Amino acid sequence: MKTIIVSNRLPVKISDNNGELEFKQSEGGLATGLGSIYRQGDNMWLGWPGIEVASEDGQREITSRLGAMNLYPVFLTQEEINLYYEGFSNETLWPVFHYHPTYARYEQSYWDSYVEVNRKFKEAIFQVAEPGDKIWIHDYQLLLLPGMIRAEQPDITIGFFLHIPFPSYELFRLIPWRAELLENMLGADLLGFHTFDDVRHFISSVTRILPVHSYGNELNYDDRQAVAEPFPMGIDDKKFEDLAQSELVLESVATLKETFQDSKMILSIDRLDYSKGILQRLQAFDILLQSNPEYIEKVVLYMIVVPSRDTVAQYKELRDEIDKLVGNINSRYRTLNWTPVNYYYRSFPVEMLSALYTMAEVCLISPMRDGMNLVCKEYVASRTNNTGVLILSEMAGAAKELIDAVIVNPNNVGEVYRAMIDALNMSLEEQERRMRAMREVVSKFNIRHWVKIYMDKLDEVKQMQDSMQAKHIGPNGRVYIENEYIHARRRAIFLDYDGTLVGFKSNIDMAMPDEDLYDILEQLTADPANNIVIVSGRKYQTLEDWFGRMPIDIIAEHGAWQKRKDGDWQKLPGLYNQWKQEIRTILETYVDRTPGSFIEEKSYSLVWHYRKVEEGLGELRANELMTTLRFITADKGLQMLPGNKVIEIKNVEVNKGKVSLSWLDNNECDFIMALGDDHTDEDMFKALPESAFTIKIGSNISSARFYLRDYREVRRLLRSLTIRKSLSA
Ligand code: UDP
Ligand code: G6P
Repeated sequence: MKTIIVSNRLPVKISDNNGELEFKQSEGGLATGLGSIYRQGDNMWLGWPGIEVASEDGQREITSRLGAMNLYPVFLTQEEINLYYEGFSNETLWPVFHYHPTYARYEQSYWDSYVEVNRKFKEAIFQVAEPGDKIWIHDYQLLLLPGMIRAEQPDITIGFFLHIPFPSYELFRLIPWRAELLENMLGADLLGFHTFDDVRHFISSVTRILPVHSYGNELNYDDRQAVAEPFPMGIDDKKFEDLAQSELVLESVATLKETFQDSKMILSIDRLDYSKGILQRLQAFDILLQSNPEYIEKVVLYMIVVPSRDTVAQYKELRDEIDKLVGNINSRYRTLNWTPVNYYYRSFPVEMLSALYTMAEVCLISPMRDGMNLVCKEYVASRTNNTGVLILSEMAGAAKELIDAVIVNPNNVGEVYRAMIDALNMSLEEQERRMRAMREVVSKFNIRHWVKIYMDKLDEVKQMQDSMQAKHIGPNGRVYIENEYIHARRRAIFLDYDGTLVGFKSNIDMAMPDEDLYDILEQLTADPANNIVIVSGRKYQTLEDWFGRMPIDIIAEHGAWQKRKDGDWQKLPGLYNQWKQEIRTILETYVDRTPGSFIEEKSYSLVWHYRKVEEGLGELRANELMTTLRFITADKGLQMLPGNKVIEIKNVEVNKGKVSLSWLDNNECDFIMALGDDHTDEDMFKALPESAFTIKIGSNISSARFYLRDYREVRRLLRSLTIRKSLSA
């Protein structure tokens, strides 16, 4: 059993150097972060080698050389590079996910190619995957891959991790293919993000765009459960710690010191990207020199920009603007012995990066948006003597963990400038206090820890899905229940109504029984051994209208009213409702503040409904309302029942559990079945004897013994009972 890592780019990229193939380490957080993981055991990494190779011989040679490194190439044609990689990945998804919607292009040809290339990756995976393998897919270039694999291998284990931010719903909804993207992402078992905010945004998008039910971070869609959770990515801290003390690096540091003498170094390292805030950083440095001439010849900005995606228009333009601004600053402030901005448009080997991390008094990381940002963690890990100051943008995922950095808003150039001054003048004690705290975080939450907790959670999710499968009534479970049913002499079948016998409707009056349901109930009641009891929170008048003519017992308003099939409506004795006025006044203030919500009054309860309220707002107000009512209801001997888009306030004596038990006291039965979808049905599941077939609808998080997915499955089960009975007769 192996883990197959899949990402657009392999951690090694190949280039053609005058006919000679050159293999180099890829840049970027994903490749450097996971670089040390894929070499373990039989694991392998599948991705694009970064070079276009048309000939079969060429492809064979590269495949064989990469194979020796546990790498497996997926070759892209020039057209795919243009449309899928530069196009949909970097001109559509990247700008939207980094809050630059005005840069985004929505081209059908980009999308078509994105679908095709994701399919190509799927084919490549199936060439190397064996039963039991885990597939771990990375990043925004492959959002469709989890769903495509799942469609062919329903039980396979798939993890997905997004290395860039997940944008707020307001941004994500702009993408014309938003539903397809989300549907396919949900093919994964576990969806990992860098921060909790990314998870929040993802859950809010899936629940708004798709018919997904979320229970916290568990997402139910299309008969499957996936989990979304934050896993802030770490680095190989030991590697940077050891490098900083290695001879080679110390020699480079000595050379750098000779070059820069007493000047303090502010270090900045990024890939070329408009999300990195490079221009704003240069502007802040310009202000520093302009407003504080005493820093002339005393400080240098050492700026590395690693070439990236420079065939995409915005990247090309950015590069030109950086060239211009650096030239401008240098031409204005340069002296004979000093250049203010030491700018390199190239990549460096890790030893050189380590020397710079060791050397720089200040590291300035000020992206406009960044999923995580690993450079800042590498700086911290390299500061083995606990000195140095990290200035970090609050828009980088890393800012959630490295709270002891000097945190700045990168759009506030004045703040970034002041942070540089503070950093250059920070006392040694304060530097050490901050650096020690950050080093602890970077060391504890390192890359090994990240992989471990991700993989453990993936196993846990798989187990949860398995246990859910066991609880679900499949063909075997159904046969078992049918057998018990056939052999019983007297049966009690308790049926909740909304969400159990009919689907959930946003207008409560629309959820009327249909012909199919009446037919099922008629079949059931035709058998004299059956006692059908509808146990609903609905008003008794409504239930009387719908079922009064049938030979059915009805328990209405959670038990406040009852009617035997051949009797009249009886009210539960001892109930009072003088409390209603005060509670209604409070509920009315919520109705005034929450468009779409309304109050329903029943004989002994009040209900606040929010099924028609804007997604998210209803939940927010419901929480508020529960807090407001908590003490008042406790004082008055009332209970608050949160249900499916409702909160019901009623007398404590009124309870589906108590009422179903007292019904059974008067009617002995040897087959008991109870079905319900709501919180209020849990009382019934808990109260009934252990031998009862208690069945929760829509979720397995319940004290019921079994679960069914929706009202359609309920109807199928009820119908199959009557059919089996008539066949066995
Ligand atoms: N990096 C590199 N060579 C360089 C400059 C940077 O390999 O010349 C690496 C750096 O060490 C870091 C990664 O590129 O591990 C950048 O990752 P980060 O998460 O900071 O940004 P991303 O490129 O993923 O947006
Ligand atoms: C970021 C992305 C990675 C990508 C890297 C380099 O880190 O999250 O998926 O590989 O940038 O970008 P490139 O386009 O050169 O692969």
